[in-house]
Amino acid sequence: MVGAGYVGLVSGACLADFGHEIVCIDKDAAKIAALREGQAPIYEPGLSELVVANQRAGRLAFAADIAEGMRGAQAVFIAVGTPTLAGDGAADMRYVFQAAREIADAIDSFVVVVNKSTSPIGTCDTIERLIGERVAKDRFAVVSNPEFLREGAAIDDFKQPDRVVVGVEDEAARLVMREIYRPLERNGSPIVYTTRRTAELVKYAANVFLAMKVTFINEIADLCEKVGGDVMDVAHGVGLDKRIGRRFLNPGPGFGGSCFPKDTLALTKLAIDARSPMRLVETLVDVNDKRKVAMAGKIVRACGGSVKGKRIAVLGLTYKPNTDDMRDAPSLVILPLLQQAGATIVAFDPEGATQAAKLLPGVEFANGPYACLEGADALVVVTEWDAFRALDLARIKAALREPVVIDLRNIYPQSAMRAMGFKYVGIGRGA
Ligand SMILES: NC(=O)c1ccc[n+]([C@@H]2O[C@H](COP(=O)([O-])OP(=O)(O)OC[C@H]3O[C@@H](n4cnc5c(N)ncnc54)[C@H](O)[C@@H]3O)[C@@H](O)[C@H]2O)c1
Repeated sequence: MVGAGYVGLVSGACLADFGHEIVCIDKDAAKIAALREGQAPIYEPGLSELVVANQRAGRLAFAADIAEGMRGAQAVFIAVGTPTLAGDGAADMRYVFQAAREIADAIDSFVVVVNKSTSPIGTCDTIERLIGERVAKDRFAVVSNPEFLREGAAIDDFKQPDRVVVGVEDEAARLVMREIYRPLERNGSPIVYTTRRTAELVKYAANVFLAMKVTFINEIADLCEKVGGDVMDVAHGVGLDKRIGRRFLNPGPGFGGSCFPKDTLALTKLAIDARSPMRLVETLVDVNDKRKVAMAGKIVRACGGSVKGKRIAVLGLTYKPNTDDMRDAPSLVILPLLQQAGATIVAFDPEGATQAAKLLPGVEFANGPYACLEGADALVVVTEWDAFRALDLARIKAALREPVVIDLRNIYPQSAMRAMGFKYVGIGRGA
């Protein structure tokens, strides 16, 4: 498994847990050293325990060097980052292609090279060409196997996936992939075999569709605020329709994270390059970007039109709960705008503070939710960690200097909050 990040480490640990022998390889030597000591470099529920148990059982090892990690391997997965290339929104493929070259130099017997990184259509063809420049064609085959796990629920998602998608055009490689995913097949998970290009497209289509659902309900929320109506009931009423489904209809401050922002941009770019522009996707990128900025304005309005000199308490910084991942988190747009408008920000996040501190200069960090609120002029909920849902509302009110709550995730009951004397502003909850 080349790349021991959110995807590589979780996939490696889960495949080891199924009984396979796995080596997770990462060029970040410090990460590998920590993993060898049993320390997971990221926060993901259940991951540390899984890593340690499989390491002790001798099924999971770590290496900083590809040749060392690949020795005797039947398959090698590429699970490295594909961030946005500065400029035009395309996926930056340099890590994938570099990994492919390093893999080529380490091939000692027939190996299946499996690309798990989310990559533009045609990437497997390029990987095949790059490796083929260094290694005889009968010593490797390239497969696309995009990953659909969600951070925060990654282990369950990997072990009980809605489906596994395998793009494979070589019979020997197909047999190896079947063997790798046999435990999941036995458990009844659908395994979709298709061509490599189709598999690559499935991943983008799935992620962008989910991003579209989120963006759609966000626009319905805005409409609710203008015309009256409660977006939570709209989402419930709409989501009960089995053709639509309730999931990903939660209004909020706009999507962020390590996947949706970059994958929507990458699909937009590759569709333009293919002369088949996707206007729906282009629009949702624009709507979502503007939404994060608009959230700062919403907070300022709720604070009486100015936050100059005010102390704003923020609960939750990561792009979603149960992760420490700060990549493209809405907080990274909203908080600096409030600071520019003259606010002092004090924040609390259960797992994200270390990452957040590097990205949010000038933000004070509290060591608990109530300490965060103490003496603040307003509370803003940015990320809906479970630990914030049942906070003592009376204690919140007592701690705040002004009882102003801007709840960007609708985790508190609007009528009860208002009855208690809060100035409560949620998302899409009536005119
Ligand atoms: N994070 C998610 O929730 C998620 C879900 C599904 C798919 N994906 C996709 O999976 C891919 C990986 O994402 P991630 O979040 O795990 O990234 P990540 O940044 O957490 O991890 C990537 C790791 O690869 C290592 N690496 C890079 N080049 C290397 C090389 N040549 N040799 C060895 N190690 C190398 C880096 O040091 C890093 O530790 C991306 O394409 C992403 O879009 C991510």
